[in-house]
Amino acid sequence: MPAKVAVLPGDGIGPEVIDEAVKVLRAAGVDAEYEYALVGGAAIDATGEPLPAETLTVCRASDAVLLGAVGGPKWDNIQPAHLRPEIGALLPLRSELNLYANVRPARTMRPLVHASPLKEGRSMIDLVVVRELTGGIYFGDRTRSEDGRKAVDSMVYTRDEVERITARAFEVARARRKQIVSVDKANVLETSRLWRETVSEFAAQNPDVSVSHMLVDNCAMQLIRDPSQFDVILTENMFGDILSDEASAVTGSLGLLPSASLSDPIGDKVFGLYEPVHGSAPDIAGQGKANPLAAILSSAMMMRFSFKDNRTADRIEAAVEAALDEGLRTADIFENESRLVTTSEMGDAVAAKLRP
Ligand code: IPM
Ligand code: MG
Repeated sequence: MPAKVAVLPGDGIGPEVIDEAVKVLRAAGVDAEYEYALVGGAAIDATGEPLPAETLTVCRASDAVLLGAVGGPKWDNIQPAHLRPEIGALLPLRSELNLYANVRPARTMRPLVHASPLKEGRSMIDLVVVRELTGGIYFGDRTRSEDGRKAVDSMVYTRDEVERITARAFEVARARRKQIVSVDKANVLETSRLWRETVSEFAAQNPDVSVSHMLVDNCAMQLIRDPSQFDVILTENMFGDILSDEASAVTGSLGLLPSASLSDPIGDKVFGLYEPVHGSAPDIAGQGKANPLAAILSSAMMMRFSFKDNRTADRIEAAVEAALDEGLRTADIFENESRLVTTSEMGDAVAAKLRP
C-alpha cells in the first residue's frame, strides 16, 4: 500500500516551496499518495478557521504531514487574536498530533560556507536543536487581570514530558557524534531544575552518550563564539524557539533549513510533521524567488524519520548539494558567479538529479 502524506501548503511562499518538494519526492520514485488540506490564513479565508477539523482528520489518516508555512499581514490583526494562523494553526497542530519532539538541524552546506556571518574557520556548523514542542510556557495558562494591567504566562513541565524528549534527543545523538548539551536556566527557574535533574538521571542510565549542561544565556553566546562545539542541543520549548533561530542564522542560509516535529514511535515508524524553518515570506510570495531547498530537505527528513527510507533521504540530500555545487542559487543565497534560478527551476534541477 502506498504511504499517505498530508500536504498542507499554507500561506505566502508555502504553496510554491511545497510544489517543489512534492515534485522532488515524485522524481525520487517515492510511492505515496498526497492528500492536500487547508491550513493557516488560506484556511481562514475558505472556512473561517485556521485549522479546520477536516485538516486534522486528513493529518490523522496519514503517515506524515508536509507543511509549507502559515501567516501573513492579511491575518496579523485578526480578531479574536487566537485565530491568528501562527497560534490558531501551528500550536493546535502540534498538541493535537502530539508532536512533542522538534528536530532542527543547522548545518553549513560546503558550497555556502561564505554565507555565514561568522568569521571564516568558525563557520562550519553541524548541529541539531532538539526542542520540546508541546509543553512549557507555550501551553501554560495565560491570564490578564480585569483592569488589563497585569499579565501572566505560566511555564509548566512534568517529569514525564522531560523524560520523553530527553529519550528522543539521545536517539538523535546516537546517530551523530553522541554529545548532548542540555540547555536550561537552572540558576533561576524551578522548571529548569526539574529539567536538569531529569536529564542527569537519564544520562546516568545511558552512559553511551555524553551529556553536559549549559545555561541558556551562555548557550546564546557560545552559538556565536564557536558553534562548532555543539552536536545536539536539547532544550525546552521557548529556549528552543530562540536558539534554533540563532543557530539557523549563523549558518547563513535560513532558506535551506528543514525541520521535523515527531510524535511517539510506533514500531519502527514515527508519525511526524515536516516543514521548512523559514516562514511564509509574504513579501516575495508568488514571484518565483523563494528557496525551495528547505522544503525539499524537509521531505528528505520525512523519508528518514517517518518512512525509514534512509537511502531516498540520502539521495535527495545529495541532489540538493549537487545543485548547489553546480552554482545554482535562488535570490536569497545569490552571490557573484553563481547562476540565479527561480523556485521551480531549482526544484527541476534537484528533481533531474534523482530521475533514473
Ligand atoms: C517556530 C515559530 C513558532 C513558534 C511561532 C510561529 C508560533 O517561531 O516554529 O519556531 O514559536 O514555535
Ligand atoms: Mg521560531
